[in-house]
Amino acid sequence: MKIGIIGAGHMGSAMIKGWINSKQVEAKNISVKGGKSLTASHLQKELDFTLINQYEDLQKMDIIFLATPTPVILPVLNELAPFIMDNKIPVVSVSAGVSTQELQQVVPNHPVAQAIPNTPVQINQGITGIVYGKNLADSQKEIINHSLSLLGNVQEVRPDNIAIFGTLAGCGPAFVDVFIEALGDGACLHGMDREMAYKVAASMIKGTAELLLRTQDHPAQLKDNVASPGGTTIKGLVALEKEGFRYATIQGINTIMSNE
Ligand SMILES: NC(=O)c1ccc[n+]([C@@H]2O[C@H](COP(=O)([O-])OP(=O)(O)OC[C@H]3O[C@@H](n4cnc5c(N)ncnc54)[C@H](OP(=O)(O)O)[C@@H]3O)[C@@H](O)[C@H]2O)c1
Repeated sequence: MKIGIIGAGHMGSAMIKGWINSKQVEAKNISVKGGKSLTASHLQKELDFTLINQYEDLQKMDIIFLATPTPVILPVLNELAPFIMDNKIPVVSVSAGVSTQELQQVVPNHPVAQAIPNTPVQINQGITGIVYGKNLADSQKEIINHSLSLLGNVQEVRPDNIAIFGTLAGCGPAFVDVFIEALGDGACLHGMDREMAYKVAASMIKGTAELLLRTQDHPAQLKDNVASPGGTTIKGLVALEKEGFRYATIQGINTIMSNE
C-alpha cells in the first residue's frame, strides 16, 4: 500500500511511526510532505520514508492523509485537488475541526473521510474514530479502514459524536498522563523512586483497561471487586470522592466541549 501524508507534526509523525512499526507498510512507500520548518526532513533521516515537496508526487498514492493544523486543512486540500481527482484517491483529514461536508465542498463528489486518531497510534495501540463521506465506494472504505487498523482499533462514529470522540480519545491521553504523574507523586511521597513509580502506575492502568475491555464488565463492578468492605481501597476512594475526583474529570471533558 502506498500512503501519502501531508503534515508530519505530532499526529502525522505518530501515524508514520505506527505504519512503519506495523511492518505492513514499507517506509519508502510512505510519501510525506512537510511544512515550512525542517521537522519533516529531520524525521525522514530517522525513519527513511520518502520525503516529497510537491503535491504532484502524490498522484500514485492509494490513500492520502491530511495532518496539518486545522486552519490549513481546506487550503491544502484545494491545492492538492488537481492531482488527485482524476484517480479518485481517497483523502482522509485527521482534524476534528473539519467535517466531511466541508471537505466535500472543496472536492465535490470525491471520496473523503474524517478520522480522529490519538497519539498511541505510534505504537499501534491507538483508537481512531472515523466518519465516512458520501462518495466512498466499498473498496475505498476498505483501504481507509485497512490503513487505520494498522495503527490500532478503528471505530465508526456518528458525525454528531466526532467532537466528543476527539475529546475523549484524542485529549484523554493527556488526562491519563497527568493521573500517572500524580500516582507517581503519591508513591514518591512514600519512598518509591520515580522511575519505578511511573512504570508501576502505567502497567497498572494498562492492565486495568485491558481487563475491562476483555471482560466487558461495568467499571463499577471492577472497582467493587477491588474495594472490599471496610478495606483500605474504599478509604482511598472516599478520599478521592471528597476531593472531587469524578467531578474534576467530568469537568475536564465538559470544558473542552464548551470551547468547541
Ligand atoms: N496531536 C494530537 O493528539 C491530535 C489528535 C487528533 C487529531 N489531531 C489533528 O492532527 C492535525 C495536526 O495536529 P498536530 O498536533 O500534529 O500539529 P503539529 O504538531 O503542529 O503539526 C502540524 C504539522 O503540519 C505541518 N504543516 C503546516 N502547514 C503545512 C502545509 N501547508 N503543508 C504541509 N505541512 C504543513 C507543520 O509543518 P511545519 O512546522 O514544518 O510548518 C507541522 O509539522 C490537526 O488537525 C489536529 O487537529 C491531533
